[in-house]
Parts: sequence; structure tokens; C-alpha cells
Amino acid sequence: MKKHFLIAICALLLVSCGGRNESAPANPKVAANALKHYPIVDSLLRVMTLDEKIGQLVLYTSDWDVTGPSIRSGYVDDIRSGKCGNIFNAYTAAYTRQLQEIAVNETRLGIPLLFGYDVIHGFRTIFPINLGISASWDMPLIQESARIAAREAAAAGLHWTYSPMCDICVEPRWGRISEGAGEDAFLGSEVARAMVYGYQGGDLEDPLTIAACVKHFAAYGAPHAGRDYNTVDMSERWLREFYLPPYKAAVDAGAQTAMASFNEYDGTPATANRHLLTEILRDEWGFDGFVVSDYTGVMEMINHGTSRDLEDASIQALNAGNDMDMQSGGYSEFLAKAMKEGKVSKKTLDEAVRRVLTVKARLGLFEDPYRYCSPEREAAETKTEANLLAARTLAEESCVLLKNTHNLLPLDKNSTVAVIGPLADSADDLLASWRGAGQVEGIKSLLEGIREMAGGVVYAKGCDIENPGQAGFNQAEYAARSASTVIMVLGESCDWTGEAACRTSIQLPEVQKELLRRIAATGQPIVLVLLNGRPLDLSEESELADAILEAWYPGTMGGEAVARLLFGEASPSGRLSVTFPYNLGQVPIYHYAKNTGRPYVHKGVKYESRYLDCENEPLYPFGYGLTYTTFSYSKPELSAAEFGPMGSITAKATITNTGAKEGTEVVQLYIRDMVGSVTRPVKQLKGFERVTLAPGESRTVEFEITPELISFWRKDMTFGPEAGEFRAFIGPASDCTEFATFTYNE
Ligand code: BGC
Repeated sequence: MKKHFLIAICALLLVSCGGRNESAPANPKVAANALKHYPIVDSLLRVMTLDEKIGQLVLYTSDWDVTGPSIRSGYVDDIRSGKCGNIFNAYTAAYTRQLQEIAVNETRLGIPLLFGYDVIHGFRTIFPINLGISASWDMPLIQESARIAAREAAAAGLHWTYSPMCDICVEPRWGRISEGAGEDAFLGSEVARAMVYGYQGGDLEDPLTIAACVKHFAAYGAPHAGRDYNTVDMSERWLREFYLPPYKAAVDAGAQTAMASFNEYDGTPATANRHLLTEILRDEWGFDGFVVSDYTGVMEMINHGTSRDLEDASIQALNAGNDMDMQSGGYSEFLAKAMKEGKVSKKTLDEAVRRVLTVKARLGLFEDPYRYCSPEREAAETKTEANLLAARTLAEESCVLLKNTHNLLPLDKNSTVAVIGPLADSADDLLASWRGAGQVEGIKSLLEGIREMAGGVVYAKGCDIENPGQAGFNQAEYAARSASTVIMVLGESCDWTGEAACRTSIQLPEVQKELLRRIAATGQPIVLVLLNGRPLDLSEESELADAILEAWYPGTMGGEAVARLLFGEASPSGRLSVTFPYNLGQVPIYHYAKNTGRPYVHKGVKYESRYLDCENEPLYPFGYGLTYTTFSYSKPELSAAEFGPMGSITAKATITNTGAKEGTEVVQLYIRDMVGSVTRPVKQLKGFERVTLAPGESRTVEFEITPELISFWRKDMTFGPEAGEFRAFIGPASDCTEFATFTYNE
């Protein structure tokens, strides 16, 4: 029997003698973190050589070419010699088994590989982009989408997803705004939590769950001028109040890993930022998983100008708390030397290795390294009817109805519609960036979805997404005139958002605007369906179109979902999770703005905080969205006018469906702290609830207001509430005006 088998068996014995917490609680909140101590990890650490330890901190990519998965031969050698303990971008049960067999059978200790992948909005069944998902405000369904993604990914041999992306963003130029949950810390925290629970479930050892990775830590969503990878600079107060909460929510939910972001914070790249990776993440938040760099993040510290060379960068990164090196190769090349020279301590190295091995143990890989490679499960779990139905429902719920003049929508199923636009017949764009292992074959475009629903369809592409040619305009105009309603499908190519996909304009390309103008000139009613991954400047489109449905990139089932909404098989219920400005000049614009010393209250007064050429308000505020019915709100009421540290009060309002159709409303609570030791937002989201009401039906929605809910980073940088007067607003969007006043007493 080989030596590594012996060691593995001894270790397994140790595990069965009390390493596992057999009665792991079902509550996912605690399950993942409860399984803390694994004797196998101690055993391994005692016998591992320096090189073997370093190998556990190394992560290399696999590749994918036309013939299927492939890997650079040097990496296979590294796996075989124990110099690479983790691989990403490799999937399928068969392929991961093949690589795992090398690690398990051919290395001295047989430590299994960890397989990671960007499962961002689905794996095989692709859900809407994350910005769209967050617009559903439907946490159970978001959790379910992550659970489905985990089941599909886990069956294909994956253990670890680089999600949730928790980067708050108020910068529409930044292409990665599409990957996050929008502008708000409260909503972002709810989404982060739901996704971690979805991926990790109640038991990480369950082969249907995978480890989550909270990224990109931290503040990656705030690059100057919206340009990817650019400098980030903000006060610690702003960081803590508006940017950190979603990352923390993911950590509190038990996320097993975290990814350091590419950007700097306070002059130090996040990859080697001890304040972020150790002081905040571990010491303050108690994170007990491992931190991985982003792709070549360690190497990039040379470009940042804070490391002389890769050796210097590797030492700085590990010492700061970055446990695993993704793709730079620096740990592999230099850490042994650094150890010998005393630049990295044995304690630091061992702690990093312990964290990585512990996550592998939590996943159950030491018990069965092939637990996640299951061709049978892979076939059975992939794109099941239930998965596709969940994707369709989430796609429907993520769409936001921005305008619906004279109730143009929903359309009559017997009518003949003209479908026009460069994105109407693109199935590919529906999947967006980071599409996992999603494939375009068999997916219905919006046009195909509409064809299945409408009495008659006339289609004309009209123009390309960006190419200025107008040769198709006449045919489009002809199509428009021959139908009772026009559905125009305009937007951005799906590779205009995602990583390294930033724009200096947030308008539709000029050729598409021109096409819209031409069709609008026919006088035909226009429904504009938008496919895009960022807030756009829709100031002109909102004048020209009669109805606007923001459909983002809705995923595998997007064609059907959008058609169902257009023809009333389903009703829109999405609400914006990010503000849509009138124009780029208003950016950054977000609902939690502060009052300033000169708020704009007197129309036309010069020396107040305002623009000469535009409103202060956005075109569509955060939280906004229509549906096929209308709702009325009673004035908010409070259970008591005041409360103290040990107490709480409730704020409530009664919502009535005043229209003729069933509909879903997202009831929102905002709070304003009237006087603080530091300036406070004029409104901040503090609660929400989705309610579905039949025509004429009323429901009273209650929110509990606790000291925690009104806490913030006070003048002295402690977190807590302050005594004083507050306003509680309850309404359908962040521009709601009805409030009740309460007092918090210390
Ligand atoms: C991205 C990460 C991603 C990683 C691995 C990087 O370029 O910034 O979000 O997880 O690549 O694919």
C-alpha cells in the first residue's frame, strides 16, 4: 500500500473519532461555520513538506478548447508533484475525476484538488444577470437560483464558486455593475445572504452544495470614472456604511472563502491589504475560511507600484492575509525561499494551509475526493424542468416595467405585432457574460418567445447593435405600419458589460436611437424592451416609447419569460435595484444621498445644490417599477412613538390593489435619522416585502424597527444607534414621501 494511502487512512480514522459535528444544525446560518475542527488537517500539517504546504496555496486555471477541456502540461506536472492543490475552470464529472485521480493517486499525500469556477448566475441553467436577479427583491427565489446553480455545478465536479459578487456600485460606466446587486447595502446584504445559503445549503458535505466566495473584497465597485481595475478611494466611514455590509452579510451567512479585489484601498492593493484581509475580515468579522487573490492579483502589485517584483508581492500578499495565489505563480516560485529567509513565518504559512485544508475537509473531500464527480447526477441535475421553471420565474420577476402609458401592456394575444431591433432574435445575448457552462443551443430568442404567444408577428431587424448602417430602416418602418403594436428590442451587446467592459456613454448606440425615432414617427404604439446590463440614459427613449420593459439579460428562459410578460401570462414585479439617471452627468446618483448644507428646495434659487441643465432627481429612482395594476398606500403608522436600547417598534402601512388585475408590490421601508453626530442620508432602505394582492384586496405590511436597524458608524467610528428623532417612510419606491416620526432614547 502506498504511503499516501496510509496517511489518508490514519487521517480518516481521526475524522471518525470526533472530527465531525454529526448533528450539524440544519440552519444554514450556522452550519457551515459550525464544523470547525478537523483532526485530518492537523495530521496532514504535521507530515507535509514545505513544498507540499505551498502547493495547497496555489491555484491554476484549466482551459477549454474546441475539442473539450485541456490543461497546460506544466500544471499537470505541478499537480503530480504536489505543487498545485487547486484548479479552476475545469468541469464535467469525467474531466475533474481525471485530474482528481492524479492528485489522489500520484502525489505523496493524496490530498484532493479543490475545483473552482465562476458560477455567477447559474451553471447550465442560466438565470438573469445578477443586477436583474436583485431587481426581483425575491430572496427565496434568489436562494433557490443559487441552490440550482450549486446542484448543477456540483454534479459536474465543482466544489467552489466565485460568487456572490457583493460589490456595491453607483457607477453605470463600470461593466461589472451587471454582476452585482446594485447600489444599496441593505438590499445587497439580503441578496448576498440568500446566495450563500443557496450555494452552501445547511451542510457543505452534501454533494449537492458548493463553497461560496464573497468577492471582490473590497470596494471593487467604486473605480474612479467607472473604468475597470481603476483606483478606488473613499473614506473608511463611507466604506463601512455603504460598501462593506453585503460582504459582511455573506461572511455571516457562512461563506467559506473570500476573494481579494484588484483595486487598491487607501493606497494599498487589496491583495496585500492587511487592514481589509486580516483586521476587518478575520479579526472583526470572524471569517474563518480562506482568502484567494483575484486572477494574477498578486503579480499585479508590481504594476500598482507597491512591490518591487513577484517575490516581494508574494511575501506581502501572504503576510497580509491572502492565503491562495490565483494564477500569478509567485507563491509557488518564491515562498519556500521567503520562508528560509524568515520573510514569511511558519505560523503564517501553516495558518494559510490550515484554512485551505479545512475548507476541503468541510466539503467532505477527504472522505471521498470524487464525491462531486457524478456523471449520473450530472445528467439528472442539468437543466431539469424544475430548474428551467425557476429560471423562467426569476426572469419574469427580474424585469422592471418602467413605463406603460394607457396600459398598452399587456398586449392582446390575438394581435399582430411587429418585432423590430438588433437584439430581438439574439438568443446568445440573453445569457450575458459569466454564463457558466450555459449553452445557447435550444434557447429561444425574444422573437421566438413572442412568436409562440402572438396572433401574428412581422419581424425586421432594422439595424445592427452599433454599426451605423441604416439599410434596414425602411423594412422596419414597413413592418411597424403593418402591425397593431410595435415591440422594439434594443440595448447593448452582452459583452458590453462584465469584466473589462466599460463605457463612457450610457446611451443606446446612435443607430438604435435613430431607428427608434423613425419608428416613433409612424405614430404606431411602441413597446420598448431593453436588453442591457447597466443603468442607461433613457431620457429620449422614455419620451418616444409608450411602454418600456427593462429585461436586462434574462438568461436561458428569457425569451419565454419576456413574451409571457408582454402578453399578460405573467405580470411584471421587478423594482430597480439601481438608480437610472437622466444622463451620465448626474452620476454618481443613488437614493441614500445626504442633504448637504444647501439642499435644493427653492425652485430656481442659484446657490443651492443643483444643476443648471438637469433635475437633481433621476429619471427612474431606486425601488421603482410598475405592474399591470395599481396600489394605494395608507399613511405609515407606528406601534409607539419612541423606543430604547432594549426595545423596538413597528412601522406599518396598508396597501390596497386599486386596479383590475392581480399584482405584486414591493413595499419598501426607508428611514431618515434627522440629526446625527455625523451627516446621515436623507433616506436609507431599511426593509421591504413582496406582497401579491387580488383586485380590491388590502394587506397591512409591518416592519420592525430595532436599535440595530438604525445603527451606523458614529463620529467615534463605533457602530450603534444614536438618540434622536427619525422618520419612517413606507412606499413603493425611494422617492416616497409619506412618513411617521419616532424617537430613539438611549
Ligand atoms: C475576475 C473574477 C473571477 C476570476 C476567475 C477575474 O478576472 O475578476 O471575478 O472570479 O477572474 O475567473
